[in-house]
Amino acid sequence: MIAPNTAHAAFEKAAQYFGIRLIHVPVDVVTGKASAQDMIRLITPNTIALVASAPCFSLGVMDDVESIAALAAEHGIGCHVDCCLGSFLLPQLAKLGRTAVSPFDFSVPGVTSISCDSHKYGFTPKGGSIIMYRGTALRQYQYFVSTEWSGGIYATPTLLGSRPGALIAATWATMITLGQDGYRQAAGQIALMVDRLCDIIEHTEDLFIFGKPASSVVAFGSSTLNVYAINDEMSHRGWHLNALQNPAAVHIACTMLTTESTIEKFMEDIAESVAAVRAQPMLSLGAGTAAIYGTNAVLPDKSIIEDVAKGYIDLLYKL
Ligand SMILES: Cc1ncc(COP(=O)(O)O)c(C=O)c1O
Repeated sequence: MIAPNTAHAAFEKAAQYFGIRLIHVPVDVVTGKASAQDMIRLITPNTIALVASAPCFSLGVMDDVESIAALAAEHGIGCHVDCCLGSFLLPQLAKLGRTAVSPFDFSVPGVTSISCDSHKYGFTPKGGSIIMYRGTALRQYQYFVSTEWSGGIYATPTLLGSRPGALIAATWATMITLGQDGYRQAAGQIALMVDRLCDIIEHTEDLFIFGKPASSVVAFGSSTLNVYAINDEMSHRGWHLNALQNPAAVHIACTMLTTESTIEKFMEDIAESVAAVRAQPMLSLGAGTAAIYGTNAVLPDKSIIEDVAKGYIDLLYKL
């Protein structure tokens, strides 16, 4: 499986569970995208699928779904589009005429499967997600059937055996209640806040935005200052932004809670934080610095991280 290195860690997790070798393609630091050209030379007769994100979690930019899917079609392999973050926003943003939204769905030849998260911008409870296939033949690989089991014929469509009906009912009720109009209104409001944020970051000396934010996530970096130190300064001012790595960056994900007053506060605090770091040029971290997913925490030494992370999970189970 070949994926841009900005593809979600869930692909690495799936690769580990299913014994698939995952090959990462580095993304361009300016556009934040991996090119299909870089994928071509990695395809072998063993390659089963190419991955594209719409958009990726870390930098919030769309991969070039059309060219990656075309390449997959040419080689007769799968092309999975990870639309977990974009699913409930992109179609509405496209209808609202946003130009950062390039084609990403089954209208693109070569796309064979798409994942969507209803619990993100679908505003439904966590615990349910959506996977869609271009055809039923592909979907059947997901099914498990045991015809000889002592408990009777056992057939299940998903990795989970017993599943909560209440969750599906709540998801359905939320979607029906909000409807297309509700989702379009939410997407429009979020897009306005994204525009405001981009404007502020673009006008902040020493900061740059990675690529073209496609939906709700805006990632920024700095070629002159330590972006993690800027994040620390933001934390001192009450912000909880996501620290990213490879490349070093910080992102902010706009939601319905990102309002005009949040943006005003961001504008003041980011200016102060950048100025504070500029005043202490010694604040630089070593090349081994690692950011922890879903947090603003940064570790100074990568070599111990796996053990620390496993120890942390163990501790949660002990509690
Ligand atoms: C783009 C993207 N893909 C996949 C996932 C993984 O979702 P889950 O946490 O349900 O494994 C996320 C979650 O943040 C995501 O943003």
